[in-house]
Amino acid sequence: MSGQDSMGSLADILAARIRASGPLPVADFMGLCLGHETHGYYMKQVPFGREGDFTTAPEISQVFGELIGLHLADLWLRAGSPAPVQLVELGPGRGTLMADLLRATARVPGFHAALDITFVEMSPVLRAEQKSRVPHARWADRLADVPEGRPLLLVANEFFDALPARQLVKTTLGWQERHVDWQGGRFVPVVPADAPRLDSLVPPALRAAPEGSVFEVLGGAEELALLNRRLTQDGGAALIIDYGHDRHSLGDTLQAMRAHAYADPFAAPGDADLTVHVDFAQVAARAGAGLRVLGPAGQGRFLRALGLDIRTAVLAKANPPKAEALVSASRRLADSDQMGALFKVLSLSHPEWPAPAGFDA
Ligand SMILES: C[S@@+](CC[C@H](N)C(=O)[O-])C[C@H]1O[C@@H](n2cnc3c(N)ncnc32)[C@H](O)[C@@H]1O
Repeated sequence: MSGQDSMGSLADILAARIRASGPLPVADFMGLCLGHETHGYYMKQVPFGREGDFTTAPEISQVFGELIGLHLADLWLRAGSPAPVQLVELGPGRGTLMADLLRATARVPGFHAALDITFVEMSPVLRAEQKSRVPHARWADRLADVPEGRPLLLVANEFFDALPARQLVKTTLGWQERHVDWQGGRFVPVVPADAPRLDSLVPPALRAAPEGSVFEVLGGAEELALLNRRLTQDGGAALIIDYGHDRHSLGDTLQAMRAHAYADPFAAPGDADLTVHVDFAQVAARAGAGLRVLGPAGQGRFLRALGLDIRTAVLAKANPPKAEALVSASRRLADSDQMGALFKVLSLSHPEWPAPAGFDA
């Protein structure tokens, strides 16, 4: 059975909407595929792990969350141990990163007592998973719903890649938005001739690109602007980890993952994970003004600077039957031919806070 034959009711809903009102912008299509309240990919299932469609760094090794925890606790100690402090994770998945972070920092004097933990998560299914691992957290739909007025420590791993991105295509008329149409029983990408020109959304250096070029406008503009305001106003630091590029670049990076393999992003709405590569230059431009911006550094370099190899060796020594698996998981996170270079880490922090560890001076 082809992907088109097996399309569920989200496909019917999207097709009906397109028939009624015309092609949907790719960002709206992506947003509905992932977040439709009943049929969205993240809303109806736990997509991670061996049985799922893909895996993420915290699911590969406990060391990932542990090192992020130690990074944040070290910063908090050097900032004078402010209390209370708001610890926020955007898009926490199964809650594994936070559980590992908390276990690793249990002995940092005063840290846990100071923490007020909030998960920003849209999926009820994943909220339940998170609650099973971190029962004392709170939940919010958006960063705007997280209490302000206290320093913020924030982490977002593979969150921004899952936010709906706008795709702009260079046409004979200029830069126009790519949409998704329903033609001959399939969803197909199109650029409607009457789509408005959006040249101003493309960085000036890329505007003269040849016809057919694609520029992606990262989602999450409001969250990033708010993150900047909160860090500026209340102090603190954020770590944004994702796969992507450090400079503005051209290219269609919309991709679907199903059962650990690449799939057609338009073939099975709601049944495949959809992501785009994160343009860290857009993240820094939207969230970095007036803050200390470090990176993006390769994930491998960052984790190794924080002690990945030592921590892995300690765990391997304590658990010889798992030693090989632990070492290979750490290599998967950090080696540059695996996740170590494509995945990147950007740090944003209040300029008067001490410099976060793990980045080259
Ligand atoms: C790719 S998963 C990453 C999960 C986790 N950080 C990890 O590394 O395993 C994306 C996460 O972001 C959540 N998410 C996606 N879009 C969201 C949105 N607009 N608002 C809140 N959560 C969202 C998903 O439900 C999921 O928890």
